[in-house]
This record gives sequence, C-alpha cells and structure tokens, in this order.
Amino acid sequence: MRMLEPSCGDGAILGLLDRAPAAATAAHGSAAGAGRGSVAHAAVTGVELDPVEAAKAQLAAPAATVIQDDFFSWFTPERRGAWDAVAGNPPFIRFGNWSDPARERALDLMRSVGLKPTKLTNAWLPFVVASTLALRPGGRLGLVIPAELLQVTYAAPVRAFLVDHCSELTVVTFRRLVFDGILQEVVLLLGVRADTDGLATAPADAAAAPAARIRVLEVDDAAALGSPDDVAALPHAPALRHDTEKWTKYFLPPAGIDAIRAARHAPGLQRLGEHADVDVGIVTGRNQFFVMRPSETAARGLAAHVSPIVGKSAQLRGIRFGGDDLARLATADAPVDFLGLPPADVAPDQVALAAHLAAGESDGVHLGYKCSIRKRWWVVPSVWTPDAFMLRQIHDHPRIVANDTAATSTDTIHRVRALGGVPAAALAAASINSATFAFSEVVGRSYGGGVLELEPREAEQLPIPDPAQITDHDIARVDELIRAGDVAAALDHMDRTVLVGRLGLDPALVDELRAVWVRLRDRRMDRSRRATPHRLASPA
Ligand SMILES: C[S@@+](CC[C@H](N)C(=O)[O-])C[C@H]1O[C@@H](n2cnc3c(N)ncnc32)[C@H](O)[C@@H]1O
Repeated sequence: MRMLEPSCGDGAILGLLDRAPAAATAAHGSAAGAGRGSVAHAAVTGVELDPVEAAKAQLAAPAATVIQDDFFSWFTPERRGAWDAVAGNPPFIRFGNWSDPARERALDLMRSVGLKPTKLTNAWLPFVVASTLALRPGGRLGLVIPAELLQVTYAAPVRAFLVDHCSELTVVTFRRLVFDGILQEVVLLLGVRADTDGLATAPADAAAAPAARIRVLEVDDAAALGSPDDVAALPHAPALRHDTEKWTKYFLPPAGIDAIRAARHAPGLQRLGEHADVDVGIVTGRNQFFVMRPSETAARGLAAHVSPIVGKSAQLRGIRFGGDDLARLATADAPVDFLGLPPADVAPDQVALAAHLAAGESDGVHLGYKCSIRKRWWVVPSVWTPDAFMLRQIHDHPRIVANDTAATSTDTIHRVRALGGVPAAALAAASINSATFAFSEVVGRSYGGGVLELEPREAEQLPIPDPAQITDHDIARVDELIRAGDVAAALDHMDRTVLVGRLGLDPALVDELRAVWVRLRDRRMDRSRRATPHRLASPA
C-alpha cells in the first residue's frame, strides 16, 4: 500500500497514515472495509516545502519517507498513477501571494491536463489535480479543501476534471466551521480514481467515457463524521458527463435532483436570456458623491443635473416600480438623485456644479480607480434606463421588477432589457414561481453570509414560464401579494395558474421544485446563522 501526503506540514495527517496500516484495506473495495483486514507493507511518503515543518513531520511519522521539496518539482510524470491513496490538506494560497517558481510549476501541471489556470487559481486547485493524477485506477483520494469547490466558477474546470477522472466522488460538508479561529469553510473531498479517464478520450467518444457518481453529505462538525461505513451506505446521484455546474444541487435528495433535471426540459419553461438581457447597474466610482438625497441636491443647487436612481433592493417593492414608488422614496429623502452628467466640460456659469466637483476633488473622488480611468472623471459611463430591475443579492427569492419610471440603478441591482417587445411586467411576474426560485439557488452562489448572488450571465440561465402566458391579472395579483409580503400566496398563484394550469407541468414536479427552493434557501440562510458565533469568537 503506497500512500502519499503531498503537503504534509508538521505531519498531522502523515502521522495517522503512518500508524494506521490496518485501516487501509484494499483500495478497490468500498470504504466499508475500514478497521478490518490489514496491509502488511504500508509505505507512506510526505512532501513538504518548509524545512522546519518537514522535520516535524518526520518526527510525527518516523517510518514515513519525508521529502523536503516543492511538491510540483518532486511530482514528475513517472510518479503519476503510482499511489494507492493520497490524503492531505493542501495549502490555500491566493494567486498573488504565491511565489514563483513554485506557482509556475503548479500551473504547468494543470496545463499538462488541458486546464487553463487564471489569476483566480488558488494553490489548492493544482494540488487537487496532482493528487488525482497521482492515484492508480481504483486508488483513493481524501483531501481537506475549501468549500469553494462546490460552487465557484473558477473551480468549474477542476470539478469537471474530477468528474472525468474519478468513478465516485463524495463531498462531506460541515454545518459549522471546522477549524477554530479559521473562517474558511472547508469540505472533505473523497474520491475513487476511475479506470480510464474521460478527458483522455477523444471528444467523439465522450459519451462513452466514464464519469463520476457524485454525492454531497452534510454533517454538523468533524465530531459528527461517523464511520466510513455510514458514508459508504449513502446513495450517489447518477453519473453525469462534464458537469461544470455547481455541485450545490447535490445537497438535494435524489427526487430534488430529478426535479431540477426534469424542469430543464419542461414545456413552456424558457431561459430568461431568451426574453431579456441582464446587465450590471451603473458603476459610479463613488456612490456618496454621485448619488444624493433630494435634500442634498437642493442644498447644493444641483437639481438641474440629477436623474432618478435606485440602489437598494429594499427600495423595490412588489414587481413593478412606478411613479408613486419613486415619489414615496423622494419624499422620504432616500438617496435617489443621480448626478449623471453629459460628456462635456463644465460651463463657466455652472457655478454650483463646479463647486460640487471641486469638493469631490478635495475628497479624492477623482483618484479612485473607476474615476481615474475616465477622460472626465465626473462623467459616469453607460447610463441608461432599464425596462426592469433584477435583484443581484437575494435574501429570500429572486425577483424582477418592471420599471415604469425613468430611474436607473447602481450596480447593487441589475438592469434588464426586455427583448422582442416582451412587456417587462410580464417578465417580472414570470420571475415569481417555484421553478425560477429553485434554479436561482442552484445557479447562484453564496459566500457564507447567507446572501445569494446572481451574476448577469447566471440570471439569464434561469428558467421562466413563457411570458406570453402571463396575463394582466397575474401581474396585478402578484404585485399586490409581493408588496404585502405574502410570497407564499404569490407563488401559489403562479405555480397553480401558470405552471400547472397553462403550461401543463405536473403538479408533483412543481411541488418538488418548491421543496428544492425551500431546502436550499434554508440551508444557505441557516449557515449564516450558525457561522455567527464563530465569527464573534474569532480574534481575526
Ligand atoms: C494547510 S497546511 C497542511 C499541513 C498538513 N497536511 C496538515 O493537515 O497538518 C499546507 C502545507 O503545505 C505546504 N506547502 C505549501 N506549498 C507547498 C508546495 N509547493 N509543496 C509542498 N508543500 C507545500 C505548507 O508549507 C504547509 O505546511
């Protein structure tokens, strides 16, 4: 049994490998064999860059071979496929903090298997790739890595790589932070190396190539991990090819995953992108300078230079934003005045404007990056009024809000342009239903704070019911219910009347999609609550 720890540090894991030959049973079998059988000759190798740590590792694991080197120098091509098991906790180093030549060697390894590392590549990614490549067919992987693996876009190629190179993948996630004082959310990635590689196969054979079965488990904390037998007994989601999507959906029970797949092909559900372009809001460069309260506008004498803007999700109620809503905000002295100036120099008689710009310069507004790259720092580009707004940061559910005013938005709220003459209000009502809600949780990303973020390209992927099926009555009813805070009743209306009644979706499928939304949303929100005590306790 040949075992490898690619970045063994002081040997916390290496020592366990070294002392536990009996736990390492034939790697072809299931993990259920742990604790039984024995391996007479375990050969354990650890690699560690830091000489002090490497020396500690050798003390912690006297029988192991500890090599003090950059792992990626040591990991030469003939070492690929040579190991029965790889276990470790690779370093988390951001691209910018990671020094050459180690960085370049690690990136070269990724390139050697067709991956294209970017400036977002963190050191743990090449370690995941190398650890997988180190295994023989049937060999086993066990790594502690950041929870980003599940959902961030920059990890998508590595997710696909894992699916292609493994026959089974299990990701164990933790409801509470695992390491005291460390805010990084981690997961345990367990894998079994496939006999043949998906990526090694020509694209024409892709359908025939193997792909991993995946499952995601969620436990409270390390103490709740249970035995490998518990893990082995849990079902996998069926294999999927080249799955670059987020793995968040694997938190769902099989019926939920099936519902997500079925909804992709449900008649009458279309991609939002077919009916709308979603774009970011205005990047002012400094909102305090460019966005004012009406009282400030008046005091500065700038009324002639401002136009309406919204910048907070809370300013958008219901699914329509009308003149009354804007007037209410202005009366409440909310910051809804945007200094949107034409691309021209300030005329000599524009005294109030010149004074405001001078005040901005004395505050250094013109030195901020976004302002500094403009020809005239005070002229904000790409100002246009959208047909609708769309929440970028989602607490409860996604929402499109038709814009019946001349207002635009800052980049906290996306701007939506309706295509092909689709009424924005129909798009807005179409955003309220269980299919769109469920997919927002699968497509968007959340960063531990409980908020779900949808980037424009992700928003365009959301399925919505055909807007041609939405009536004026639906729009008025949903607007009224959402304004009243009765999301459940608005959902009931759209699910029953539109998805089931007009599009003919199976009511059981719609119920399952609603359950998917609730489950993923609650999980996301629950994580932020549970993480809070740790945050407070952490000195960082
Ligand atoms: C998060 S620690 C993990 C240590 C050990 N696996 C454990 O769990 O206790 C990551 C280790 O990777 C080492 N490291 C960083 N870059 C490395 C490289 N290029 N090659 C080998 N080790 C490296 C660091 O020095 C550090 O000790």
